[in-house]
Amino acid sequence: MTQPTRPSTGTSAPDSPAPRSLAPGTIAAATYDAPVSEDSQPAISARHPGPAKLPRKILVLGATSGIAEATCRLWAAEGHHLFLVARNSDKLAMVAADLRTRGAGSVDTAVADLDDTAKHPDLLAHAVNSLTGLDIAYLTHGVLGDQAAAEQDFGHAAQILHTNFTAPVSMLTWLANFCVQRHSGTLAVISSVAGDRGRKSNYLYGASKAGLSAFLGGLRNRVDREGVKVLTIKPGPVKTAMTSRMPGNAKFADVDAVAQAIVDAVSKRRDTLYVPFQWQPIMFVIRNIPEGIFKKLNL
Ligand SMILES: NC(=O)c1ccc[n+]([C@@H]2O[C@H](COP(=O)([O-])OP(=O)(O)OC[C@H]3O[C@@H](n4cnc5c(N)ncnc54)[C@H](OP(=O)(O)O)[C@@H]3O)[C@@H](O)[C@H]2O)c1
Repeated sequence: MTQPTRPSTGTSAPDSPAPRSLAPGTIAAATYDAPVSEDSQPAISARHPGPAKLPRKILVLGATSGIAEATCRLWAAEGHHLFLVARNSDKLAMVAADLRTRGAGSVDTAVADLDDTAKHPDLLAHAVNSLTGLDIAYLTHGVLGDQAAAEQDFGHAAQILHTNFTAPVSMLTWLANFCVQRHSGTLAVISSVAGDRGRKSNYLYGASKAGLSAFLGGLRNRVDREGVKVLTIKPGPVKTAMTSRMPGNAKFADVDAVAQAIVDAVSKRRDTLYVPFQWQPIMFVIRNIPEGIFKKLNL
């Protein structure tokens, strides 16, 4: 594999070492690998549970997303260190500037199209070096896609699956192996209630999130015993740019309330979060509607 190029970055911490090149499978050894010192920030792990409010080193993938931005505002107010990744440089710069004024311990950025999986190892190496470690990786990016277009054009369907499933699997594979080596870290990932059962109105998006939820369940089963936490976040409809053209969106969940629930779930080291909470019983009912009835519904 050719060595991926370094992503363009925003302000770097002055003491950030330059990222090293990586070969496949070597991120854990090739990235920041200094031993955890007595005075370094404690990682969140079963073996080293840290007090909830100590500054954490947080990597945010898809940092310009409405939900990510709201979550980062809360983390910034608690003084955590943030490394933000997004593909829109102007938007990213605005988000980063806002988070600095809100009290983040530090904010560094990288511009990257997360669909480009070949660049993931170098991107992660850069983030880990900039943060000088990693306590939380928060993976939020995603696309709703156009269900009608995806029904006619496999190219569009494949694009939805790539952005929402394949690219996160690539990123999480690198991240999980890095965290397992250090026996610490939390991987918090936004899936969706749409992945709990396919519906005709959005089954391509739903399939991508179903795959992601299944992957996260398996990953958790593998890495939890290694001290690495995996949180699957399943929001119902939330008021963000993604849903701004949907009918009835005024009644969707408030993004700040969703963000607070995510921050709490990370702190409490939960496995799964339905947010708002009522989506858990709602999806229980929807999953259990017999197929003979379900296929006649317009959902
Ligand atoms: N809003 C809801 O009702 C809802 C419900 C359930 C789950 N979710 C999930 O929540 C997550 C956040 O969504 P949101 O509601 O906050 O929507 P949003 O504001 O539209 O955020 C989506 C973000 O993903 C980014 N993105 C998409 N493809 C990318 C790529 N290839 N590389 C880098 N960034 C990329 C977008 O960047 P650009 O701004 O550059 O396009 C945007 O910042 C998504 O995974 C979504 O599926 C949302």
